[in-house]
Amino acid sequence: MKDITILRTAEQVGNLVNRWRQAGMRIGFVPTMGALHQGHLSLVSQALGEADRIIVSIFVNPTQFGQGEDLESYPNTFDEDLMKLEEAGAHCVFFPSVAEIYPDGFSTSVHVSGLTETLCGKYRPEHFDGVATVCAVLFGIVRPDIAVFGRKDAQQLAVIRRMVDDLRLGVLVLAGEIIREPDGLAMSSRNSYLSSEQRKQAAVVCIGLSRAAELVSEGERDAVRICDAVREVIAEAPLATIQYLELVDPDTMKPVEKLNTPGLLAVAVYFGQTRLIDNVILKP
Ligand code: PAJ
Repeated sequence: MKDITILRTAEQVGNLVNRWRQAGMRIGFVPTMGALHQGHLSLVSQALGEADRIIVSIFVNPTQFGQGEDLESYPNTFDEDLMKLEEAGAHCVFFPSVAEIYPDGFSTSVHVSGLTETLCGKYRPEHFDGVATVCAVLFGIVRPDIAVFGRKDAQQLAVIRRMVDDLRLGVLVLAGEIIREPDGLAMSSRNSYLSSEQRKQAAVVCIGLSRAAELVSEGERDAVRICDAVREVIAEAPLATIQYLELVDPDTMKPVEKLNTPGLLAVAVYFGQTRLIDNVILKP
């Protein structure tokens, strides 16, 4: 590792960012939990197009995991991650400890209301508080000009945008397109949990969403009929169990019955213990 700087404390990041800023450079930031894949790296490339120096954080944030979720088993591929980030052109990796982010006495939680009541928010009640809080802390440490988030986590993107607007954090939030495997499965660090049979069947999620887009292009506008068609496709995979499938407004995350403006069709599907999410924007 020669070109990429690995930092473990907020103070080190602050010093580096101050030097960069004094030199007139724009700072780009990509927060991650590691186990990096092409989806994460595409966000780094996008950030490189908009900023002079890129910081990527790798932090498995305990406060966004619920009881019984995969905090303890979350994949850790730190050495490979570093190589990938160096190759992608990132300048710094911020890899803090839990105590660095949440020191003794830490008492703040950021709650974004409304947007967090549907989709994942309904099934992971504390999740978005954890995400918003850690992103607020990370933004405070890095003080980036821009931050890039993937559309794969569409509700997370909406929550972060709302928080940045409401708290006037002064970070330009950019969205990266969903990067997929050749069979359409959205890349995810959690795909590594899938057995080979689950992995094969997991392609139905994306095929179902594509079916929805096809129906809309043929003139279908009714949310129930669109969702029924997607359920039918996903039901072809015996190992798939849908947790939710909903058509919502992409900004407010409120359910939509008729597709008159672009809608977000979002889905969460279990394959065994592994929960996968995916989505598509449907444009009438
Ligand atoms: P993580 O799941 O590691 O994802 C980090 C970023 O990569 C997120 O913005 C996510 O939307 C994006 N991403 C993941 N898979 C993608 C894909 N297939 N295509 C495009 N982008 C993709 O999301 C988190 O971490 C955490 O909640 C975090 C924001 C870091 C806060 O802890």
